[in-house]
Amino acid sequence: MCGIVGYVGLRPALPILVNSLQRLEYRGYDSCGIALCGGHLEVFKDTGRIGDLSSQLTSNGYSMGIGHTRWATHGKPSQANAHPHTDCSGRIAVVHNGVIDNYLELRTQLIREGHTFRSETDSEVIAHLVEKHHEGSLESAVAAALAEVKGSYAIIVVAADCQYMVVARHENPLIIGVGYRENLVASDVPAVLDYTNKVIYLEDGDLATESRNTVKVSSGGKEQKRNCDHIPWSIEEAQKGGYEHFMLKEIHEQPKAITETLRGYLSHVEPQVNLGIEVPAGIDDVLLLACGSSYHATLIGKQVFEALTGMPTRVEMASEFIHASPVLRRTWVIAVTQSGETADTLMAIKKAKMLGGKTLAVTNVVGSSITRIADQCFYTRAGPEISVAATKTFTTQLIALYLLALAWPDVGAKFKSTIVQDLGRLASKVQRLLNDESEIAQQGETLAAFDNVLFVGRGINYPVALEGALKLKEISYIHAEGYAAGELKHGPFALLTPRTPVVAVAALDNTRESFLANIREIKARESPLLAIADERDTEINKYVDCVVRVPGVEPLLTPVINTVALQLLAYFAAWKRGCEIDLPRNLAKSVTVP
Ligand code: AGP
Repeated sequence: MCGIVGYVGLRPALPILVNSLQRLEYRGYDSCGIALCGGHLEVFKDTGRIGDLSSQLTSNGYSMGIGHTRWATHGKPSQANAHPHTDCSGRIAVVHNGVIDNYLELRTQLIREGHTFRSETDSEVIAHLVEKHHEGSLESAVAAALAEVKGSYAIIVVAADCQYMVVARHENPLIIGVGYRENLVASDVPAVLDYTNKVIYLEDGDLATESRNTVKVSSGGKEQKRNCDHIPWSIEEAQKGGYEHFMLKEIHEQPKAITETLRGYLSHVEPQVNLGIEVPAGIDDVLLLACGSSYHATLIGKQVFEALTGMPTRVEMASEFIHASPVLRRTWVIAVTQSGETADTLMAIKKAKMLGGKTLAVTNVVGSSITRIADQCFYTRAGPEISVAATKTFTTQLIALYLLALAWPDVGAKFKSTIVQDLGRLASKVQRLLNDESEIAQQGETLAAFDNVLFVGRGINYPVALEGALKLKEISYIHAEGYAAGELKHGPFALLTPRTPVVAVAALDNTRESFLANIREIKARESPLLAIADERDTEINKYVDCVVRVPGVEPLLTPVINTVALQLLAYFAAWKRGCEIDLPRNLAKSVTVP
């Protein structure tokens, strides 16, 4: 998730922009840049840290400027792709957070009209569009440019000869910091808190101009009055958006992350999925490779692929695959890794490539090592994840796997239509679950008192049970195991006692009858039983001690909604135990050693 900042006032802009960008470092970034403005523009940008960039800068005579931390989505991390982007004349500079869906069309048209592009980014089109429309005020040029843009954005635009900034937002956050004879703008509150705690939250469709003494907000061409809020948070609290831990914040970011992963790929008119990724011709099977949570995502992906495409699909733990003697014939190898840096997954995909497999990487990090190895890449666009426990990167991997399966030629039209429609509604259903987490919180706190917990599921929710157990063990240190519910009687039954709670991931699908039979078997052993169940399930409460209800979705999509419930369950158990949730002991976010 990129971060943007802007300053206009009486003080030197450079140190304020540097400090504000550093306050946004928690969002993660791969490159950064600053444009200083006053009669002409000076732009400084590079890959790497803000501290390194700023140590080379001395331009202190400016009292207006903009800055950016980039989390690559289009084009690798590089100096050319870093923001700010400028127009052909070098007199207009733009920073952007978001995704411009129609940038390829716009770019082609602008090149035809004589514009020269210097980067691979979607964002650069905004600078050229503003240049194209810059006849009157900068404000009207920005409005005209945005009228041509489809997608999501938070932007700040400055021009060499203009003494104000123009800012706008659509589906990406942007706040204005209101100071005394100075004003700021940023993606998030921490960036302005050192200078002011008076903040205006812009709304979708807002366009504002900010000079040193004025802030004017309009929407649809009409001036708007927006409230100025007082922020009572410390910087640290503000970086977590008011959440106690990054993990909880990231769990709550999932509706937005899912929307971003789906953005531009679904057409509801005639249910279609177009990813711009080619399924290699003549393949006989699919092999999915991954580790940890990503491995659990691939276990779900296997079932999705087989249900939708009929293509034989197998899954291998990357760490095991590197020692195996696999047979790959005409196999499409899909490696899934949020970081793109997991050593085992990198070694596994290299081995698969050597054996002749065509490869695709599903990752959250543009420019990561795996993107340089795989033949093709699909980016999950979840934004940076700070907490060690995978949450939004996991659910967006699932979305990526659904999309890949749906983009397959020959998926049955009726089935496709149902899944596409339900995928489109998924983010709002996850939001509904998150809006009412009190029941899950209470159940999580109850689990905190136990030393062992079992998770069970069947069919597509078996890997969800594995993921629920992994989440609980890694952040709360409670011993937890996930099982296919039908497997308990083959050994794990020996563990069932009134001191071993079981979390049952229930679904209204073809596993229903056998799952209920398994639940009854567990109950007979007197283990406390908690079910995660569809809100339309009127029967489950007869068999279990407690039920957490989740919004109903198409059976194939239940792993997303059920996993979010289990993430919360683990979070509140760990919270009750007072664990260091974001940095669990002995674990690292990227496991770069084999
Ligand atoms: C899960 O919460 C962990 N962070 C871990 O299992 C992780 O999924 C695994 O290390 C794989 O990481 P990757 O997705 O970056 O390859």
